[in-house]
Amino acid sequence: MLVRRLSTKVKPFETIPVAKLEDIGPEFQPNPTLKLHVLNHKRHLEYGPIYRESVGPDSDIVWIGCGQMCQEVFQQEGPYPKNLIPRPWTIYNEKYQVERGIFFKQGSDWAEWRHRLNPIFFKSQKGFWSLTDQVTLQLIRDLESDPGNLEHKLRNWAVESTLTMIFGSSFRDYQIDLDDFGTHAKNIFEHSAILQLRSADHEAKEGTDLWCKFAQSVSTSLSMTNNLTTEMLKRPSNDGLLSVLKTQSGFSDKELSLLVSDLVIASQDTVSNTALWMIHLLASNPEVQKAYQLEINQSAFVKFVIKETFRMFPVATFLTRITPNEIRVGGYSLPKDQMILMSMFHMGRRSDYFADPQKFWPSRWERSKSGQFRQGVDLAARFATIPFGFGARSCLAKHLAEYQLQFLVRELLNRFELISLNEGVDMIMKMTGIPNQQNKLFSTPRMSIYSSFEGCQQEK
Ligand code: HEM
Repeated sequence: MLVRRLSTKVKPFETIPVAKLEDIGPEFQPNPTLKLHVLNHKRHLEYGPIYRESVGPDSDIVWIGCGQMCQEVFQQEGPYPKNLIPRPWTIYNEKYQVERGIFFKQGSDWAEWRHRLNPIFFKSQKGFWSLTDQVTLQLIRDLESDPGNLEHKLRNWAVESTLTMIFGSSFRDYQIDLDDFGTHAKNIFEHSAILQLRSADHEAKEGTDLWCKFAQSVSTSLSMTNNLTTEMLKRPSNDGLLSVLKTQSGFSDKELSLLVSDLVIASQDTVSNTALWMIHLLASNPEVQKAYQLEINQSAFVKFVIKETFRMFPVATFLTRITPNEIRVGGYSLPKDQMILMSMFHMGRRSDYFADPQKFWPSRWERSKSGQFRQGVDLAARFATIPFGFGARSCLAKHLAEYQLQFLVRELLNRFELISLNEGVDMIMKMTGIPNQQNKLFSTPRMSIYSSFEGCQQEK
């Protein structure tokens, strides 16, 4: 009895190990957020699976680098899971009195939106997803004739795919400036990342140059999607998501426009950068491409390639939750409204979860008939690679993103031999995890594509 009581004793919050940002070494200066995932990896190795640390003006974050503890967080997230909305985004909405879509919804409002959207996104999706095939095939043709400027092409591909899926096949005849869409959405992420580190409240109050650039990108992005949605609502389309949403969801035209804006913002950075990482990993590992050619079950192999890419370079590098009430994680008590960041990059590189974690090894994800991983993945790693989050607040368009990425990998692997000419590519954080170098592709008449990252992206 005594043993039982001792083992269930809750450890107070104050006893969670505390790390201090002041202690970091010069390799993380002058902007520690660029390498936050590396710092976080080191912290876990030093402090263990759970620790506390403040970053920027945000107070006291609990960082979790253990699958079991992540599961405990999800189990106690309540009916209305709350995640971290970047402070610059909420300031923008408050300052300019702007209503926003599902990302910003909380409580029963949010649940109502998901209740309307889930059946459309999770059950009847197949037809919408395949609308993106033509966009991907166009990307492949573009790469065949001019393989340069890959980031830019992938960004436009992601934006155009999302818009085509929403507005239907006739959207592709409608002329819009994809560059403009992509650039503004990208700027929102990049400016937010810097604002997060400084005090976003102060920057907004002072109306600094950075704040103005950020606000301008959000305003332009919102008005572009609003104009486009208004225009597309006037054009009858039978095959796009919008036509179904209009008849089945009960959303007003205004709400539909807010939703379109959310979907564009959510898709461009995540899908395009995951594709970029995947191409980089395949191009750096010719033996994996050979294995695909010899593989009998190529469609399973393609899924493993994507899963393995997410393990090594999760674009959503940290998953977030804010506790709905006092919860218990790893034996510690966490108070209500505590911000939690789950360390996806770190967990993907835990050697007790993944054998040889630095190795790009897609077939580690193969399972036996009984459902066990055959090699290279420990059972305890269950919550260590969940790129789309988990539970009721997980990614609305997980199936779409997986479909797009699978289609792209299959086309690339079937048509090209990818060869990397670069070395030392690293991840940096600009809200999402992106490569620190620009990628350039060269093609030869033999249908080979040579991949090379050159020069440095501006490290602000
Ligand atoms: C590689 C691609 C993608 C990744 C890795 C990704 C990842 C995520 C993650 C981690 C979340 C938060 C989940 C959580 O907190 O549990 C999320 C939410 C969301 N994602 Fe994605 N996503 C991707 C693509 C997309 C696309 C293509 C769209 C839209 C077309 C989309 C729409 C959304 C929306 C609307 C939410 C908010 C859901 C809510 O708050 O209820 N995502 N995504």
